[in-house]
Amino acid sequence: MQPLIQTLKYTKNLWRYYAGVTIFAILSALASLAVPYVIKLATDAVVATAKGQPADYMYIIWLAIALFAADVAGTLFANWGGYLGDIMAAKMKKQLSEHYYQHLLRLPQSYYDQELTGTIINRLNRTIFEVTQFLNTFANNFFSMLLTVVIVLVVLFFYSWEIALLVLVLYPSFLWLTTLTSKSWQKYQNAKNLETDIASGRFAEVVAQIKVVKSFVQEKLELGHFERRFQNTVDITYKQSKQWHNNDVIRRLVLNVIFFAIFVFIFLKTLSGRFTVGDMVFIIQLMALVRMPIFGMSFIVDQTQRAIAGCRDYFEVMSLEPNIQDAKNTPTMKIKKGAIEFNEVNFEYKEGEPVLNDISFTVEPGSKAALVGESGEGKTTITNLLLRMYTATSGAITIDGVNVVDVKQRSLRENIAVVFQDPALFSGTIRENIAYAMPEASDEQVIKAAKAANAHDFITKLKGGYDAEIGERGLKLSGGQKQRLAIARALLKDAPILILDEATSSLDSRAEVQVQEALERLMKNRTTIIIAHRLSTIAHVDKLITIKNGTVDETGSPLELAKTGGIYAQLLELQMGASETAKKQLKAFEIAS
Ligand SMILES: Nc1ncnc2c1ncn2[C@@H]1O[C@H](COP(=O)(O)OP(=O)(O)OP(=O)(O)O)[C@@H](O)[C@H]1O
Ligand SMILES: [Mg+2]
Repeated sequence: MQPLIQTLKYTKNLWRYYAGVTIFAILSALASLAVPYVIKLATDAVVATAKGQPADYMYIIWLAIALFAADVAGTLFANWGGYLGDIMAAKMKKQLSEHYYQHLLRLPQSYYDQELTGTIINRLNRTIFEVTQFLNTFANNFFSMLLTVVIVLVVLFFYSWEIALLVLVLYPSFLWLTTLTSKSWQKYQNAKNLETDIASGRFAEVVAQIKVVKSFVQEKLELGHFERRFQNTVDITYKQSKQWHNNDVIRRLVLNVIFFAIFVFIFLKTLSGRFTVGDMVFIIQLMALVRMPIFGMSFIVDQTQRAIAGCRDYFEVMSLEPNIQDAKNTPTMKIKKGAIEFNEVNFEYKEGEPVLNDISFTVEPGSKAALVGESGEGKTTITNLLLRMYTATSGAITIDGVNVVDVKQRSLRENIAVVFQDPALFSGTIRENIAYAMPEASDEQVIKAAKAANAHDFITKLKGGYDAEIGERGLKLSGGQKQRLAIARALLKDAPILILDEATSSLDSRAEVQVQEALERLMKNRTTIIIAHRLSTIAHVDKLITIKNGTVDETGSPLELAKTGGIYAQLLELQMGASETAKKQLKAFEIAS
């Protein structure tokens, strides 16, 4: 129950709806009780006439009208309450979803590293659906049912304390018997939820990368994973449902015995004259009213348990504290020059597995520095730390002497434009993607950025031009086109610091030269960190920083490092050699043909 109460507290701004739903539930419970009472009065009147008293037609007609009025009132109350319940659930869903999303957006990159996208989304949908679904049903049905039971009990005490007492023990014993099984039921349910969350996570991943699945012909394997997860839920359901229903039989038997006793009591007392026939009819109808919620109890408990499990999962995510947080009065970063310094920075993604060791280097304001190193050495990681996607384990990263951990994350990131290794575009139009940093950008600004990124020509050739939809993550574009849009997007951001992580790797040599020119223009007066495997791309930088074994190996100008025999010199030789070999091959081919 605790998580459910927590949810209600969490959404206490909806109290008007809770109050409205409560009032209509009380009114419709009263209306549903009025019906058996009027029938009791009618029965007594009819029986009296049968015993020889004069027939009072007007009285009977008025009773029929009262019956009609109670029915109509019941319908209206139920529907008004239902309307409020629907709105309440919709508002609650909106609020819970928004808070969840807002919270997820605050969580650091490391959270996303561990969880599959689909799992995160499925959990959001499942938990919020279950909670709101429960409260909606509760508001529209359960609640007035429960109130009816309470009122019936009060009325019953008036007629017969014996029956009232029997009904009174009925509920707690039934609830007690139910909770006996509910713990293990919940355990099973959690296990099932976990399976579906994982299956959905993989499902979303497969849908997003269907091309890979198809090309490796692994549809069967993926379907197999999916089936296995769902088969697990079926297997769990066998145990879960069997246990539940076995116990339900026992529970209901207990109920049947109690009801048997109640009915025997009512019949005997009517025969002995303690109850009138009208009383008997009335009490039997009241019994029907209290029976319904009890026999529907397993459904209620089932729904409640789902909701509780949902709430728990919801708050589990909500209680995750981001390990990167801005303190209240953290200053904002104001970059004047853009001098970057890494001072003995250490970092590990997972404890005990260091990626960066004692990284120290400086990038002068307005200059271009290139990070060179083999794949997996930690170049992208260095830029991640500069953006504070993660926090360094030790050491300091400063911009103009200010440590990046001492300023608001937002302000830090506002000052850095990045072209990621993977272009990572969004579905939507080309214009929306280029203007992502500045949605209010004018057409001229967007076109200027596109031109600078050498993207304008291909965009205008597309059907729809700047309004062309590019599909999920830009899948309707070629790799080089995506990269040019990513560059245009970074250009439009116009930040004092620029990070280019393999920004031109998908471009052909001609396009690269053109984009390079644009980038050269852009890099003027900005501090730029470039990562490129193609050495021609970084031949003109001011400083090279080579990374080996997770630490800085050498720093110097390209000219200097070409002679030291270090990584850069080796790579240079390798790439030059490669082009020499290519030239020779081409020559041989020309001669042969
Ligand atoms: N999110 C992550 N969680 C755990 N380990 C990671 C994560 N990202 C990267 N790594 C590991 O950190 C190391 C450095 O990765 P990084 O992406 O920085 O390399 P890189 O130098 O940019 O390589 P490349 O040139 O191939 O892009 C790699 O060994 C990688 O396995
Ligand atoms: Mg990288």
